[in-house]
Amino acid sequence: MLKGKNVAVCVTGGIAAFKAVSVVSGLVKLGAGVDVIMTAHACEFVTPLTFRSLTKTPVVTDMFAEPEHMDIAHISLAQKADLFVIAPATANVIGKLACGIADDMLTTTVMATRAPVLIVPAMNTNMYDNPIVRENIAKLKRLGYLFMEPAEGPLACGASGRGRMPEPAEIIERIKLEIAREKDLKGLRVLVTAGPTREAIDPVRYISNGSSGKMGYALAAAAALRGAETTLVSGPVALEPPAGVETVSVVSATEMYEAVLSRSADSDIVIMAAAVGDFRPESVSEEKIKKSSCVSELRLAKNPDILAELGRRKGENQVLAGFCMETEDLISRAREKMERKNCDMIAANNLKTPGAGFAVDTNVVTLLFRDGREPVKLSGAKTDIAHEILTKAARLRK
Ligand code: C5P
Repeated sequence: MLKGKNVAVCVTGGIAAFKAVSVVSGLVKLGAGVDVIMTAHACEFVTPLTFRSLTKTPVVTDMFAEPEHMDIAHISLAQKADLFVIAPATANVIGKLACGIADDMLTTTVMATRAPVLIVPAMNTNMYDNPIVRENIAKLKRLGYLFMEPAEGPLACGASGRGRMPEPAEIIERIKLEIAREKDLKGLRVLVTAGPTREAIDPVRYISNGSSGKMGYALAAAAALRGAETTLVSGPVALEPPAGVETVSVVSATEMYEAVLSRSADSDIVIMAAAVGDFRPESVSEEKIKKSSCVSELRLAKNPDILAELGRRKGENQVLAGFCMETEDLISRAREKMERKNCDMIAANNLKTPGAGFAVDTNVVTLLFRDGREPVKLSGAKTDIAHEILTKAARLRK
């Protein structure tokens, strides 16, 4: 995912420096070229040898000991990197950068780069809340430096509070968000739905379906990676919210209807990947229905069709996409749905096709277009299919 990308990881002297090892190792696994720059204090916590072993590249620690493979290390590193990440960033390095102090290899190189710089603070809560640190962070943000918020929890000093470095996996997700893909959807607002809906029968039981939400989550993650302002309205699933996506959790189809319709007017592309339940119990029992009451009949009411309503309200330059999952007559039913619900494209998939379906990471879909464009067949990872769907949807915009 990060093949061909270069990341300069700058490590400063905080106890969280050990977590930077996992960040570097994760980046290397994703194919990134990684250069590590350490302050002298960082070397007290982790040895340069650890990073050198992972990156197979000399670690830069000293202003005056140029690694042999570089001309002027701080300039060549500054130019080579697609992104700088300072993790952990101490109050000290944040203060220096905010004041333009470049007195070691790390600060000199960061000062010399035009690449985006992502700062990941990690420090004691009182230090983080110190008005001087707050002001320095505000100033750097104003100047375009990127920040990750520290997490809350137990700190190395024994206290508990805000100041922990976010977990390496989170930092890697953020790095991917910054550099993994070209930002070709920047300026677009994308709204995606995902997962099943759950229709309560009583406080314990419900009607639902087997949607895992993977396709919708892949779409939202892909849109965010490509720079779209992305909102995901999700039914109950067991997936982590994608990085950089505003995720709104809902349970029932009625809740999804409200959440989607209140946001759709502002969206350029709306993709309904959720498996919305068609029916809900006509009434919900307030108490758990007793087994002994032997219910033999469940009266159902029809849920609102969100996609059809979106189709009725479709804005002039808005692209509306649906999904159609069938077990027979796939293409003709998908075409009929696309027309009836007034969407611009529909991704048709057959639940019975090997490699397609709810819980798996792959899919086999045929994209149909309202404007008569040739259908497109796609098969493979849901992530790749998500990117294709977004590319096609963006092209449909006038
Ligand atoms: O009518 P059917 O459920 O087969 O249509 C599938 C498409 O319609 C999907 O995009 C799904 O998200 C959407 N849908 C909806 N509201 C419903 C039922 C389906 O938005 N109540």
